[in-house]
Amino acid sequence: MTVGIERLAVYVPQYALRLADLAVARGVPPEKLTSGLGVREMAIPAPCEDVVTLAATAGARLLRAAGVGPDEIGMLLVATETGVDHSKPVSIFVHDLLGIGPRCRVYELKHACYAGTAALMTAADWVRAGRERRALVIASDIARYEIGSAGEPTQGAGAVAMLVGSEPRALVLGEQSGTHAGNVHDFWRPLDRRAAIVDGRYSVDCYLDALSGAFGAYREAERPRLGPAEALSDRLARLLYHTPFPKMAMKAHRRLVEVDWRAAPERWARVAPRLDDAALEAYRELAAPGLEAVARVGNTYTASLYLCLAALLEAEGTALAGRRIGLFSYGSGCCAEFFTGIVGDAVETVADAGVGRMLADRTFVDVEAYERLVGAGEAGGDPPADFAGEFVFAGLRDHRREYRRPGVLAA
Ligand code: CAA
Repeated sequence: MTVGIERLAVYVPQYALRLADLAVARGVPPEKLTSGLGVREMAIPAPCEDVVTLAATAGARLLRAAGVGPDEIGMLLVATETGVDHSKPVSIFVHDLLGIGPRCRVYELKHACYAGTAALMTAADWVRAGRERRALVIASDIARYEIGSAGEPTQGAGAVAMLVGSEPRALVLGEQSGTHAGNVHDFWRPLDRRAAIVDGRYSVDCYLDALSGAFGAYREAERPRLGPAEALSDRLARLLYHTPFPKMAMKAHRRLVEVDWRAAPERWARVAPRLDDAALEAYRELAAPGLEAVARVGNTYTASLYLCLAALLEAEGTALAGRRIGLFSYGSGCCAEFFTGIVGDAVETVADAGVGRMLADRTFVDVEAYERLVGAGEAGGDPPADFAGEFVFAGLRDHRREYRRPGVLAA
């Protein structure tokens, strides 16, 4: 049975900060952020937004674009690091806001930035089991680090909704995948904290080691088997990575091709003497094209890999139709997965995920306004006049979270 992603839709908050402005305010050279990390802009949510409103907006846009009624959804999975309650899942608020009927399996998934992939794989297996309806998977996150910390320039926010079913015009998922897991303290967020604790440089090492493990496992399972001069990346038109900041994807690609080429002795003998140059060439061709949106949005944790996918299909889906791409997902803590998919032959009919339009329509704020927005947190309340989202977090009443449409007055 052919299973995969039928269509994607993206929602990114309309406020953004230029990293060059942040660099000036923090007294670091702008190139350290724009070139050293590769981030140019980061998205900032309004106080009336939280992961529920981000997820519901992406979900509503997806259902509308796909012409799929809420009753056709038999499973709704929301992946997030930024849950709003220790018990009540983000997914049940989204279920309500989207008007999905009661005959639906609904739950939230958490594993740092990996949960979006866990949800996608679960949904694909659910469809493979012969369900007659579709699954809706939404990855939604707000990446928060302390102001002034090394992680601050790697914040961001956004949601990606994916319709998973048996008519995958966007991406046909392969059945194989390579995984890697291990208990590490690279990035975590205790229950009482709003911002993550991170051992930054160690987290980069953990990511790269997990990549070696997951990609190595996938490579061994590849069929037909690879020849002694053949790299798995030769069979892939693009490679997408979980991207907390674009430079991480560059480091990841360098590690992937090294693992890949070392395992092909004839190839390795040829490239080893000029590994750095050859890896950079491969990065420019295979990985860099998928990073444009993420450099303008920042880290979206569980949604990051799928923001790369949505933007890639929007930018060059037609040219990639029928071609196989590789995807690497990493969640701190950690669990990682490498998998592949084939871009649908009719991808041009579903390629518009709204990314280009949304990025073009944003409002840039200065550092003072950014600090005010971060300081306000998710206060809830009325949306700003130029609000681009479709749902508002109105606030708490009797410890209950209340949501509404922007134009609807609170009861
Ligand atoms: N011009 C150009 N480049 C410069 C520069 C300048 N003037 N000054 C420094 N740089 C370069 C450095 O050489 C370095 O590049 P390389 O890594 O290629 O050597 C880069 O800028 C970063 O500089 P530092 O090494 O000084 O590191 P930093 O203090 O900026 O911190 C970080 C980087 C540790 C990643 C920090 O941003 C962080 O803690 N981020 C959050 C954690 C994270 O994203 N980890 C990634 C893996 S874990 C994961 O993926 C899960 C997740 O989403 C969180």
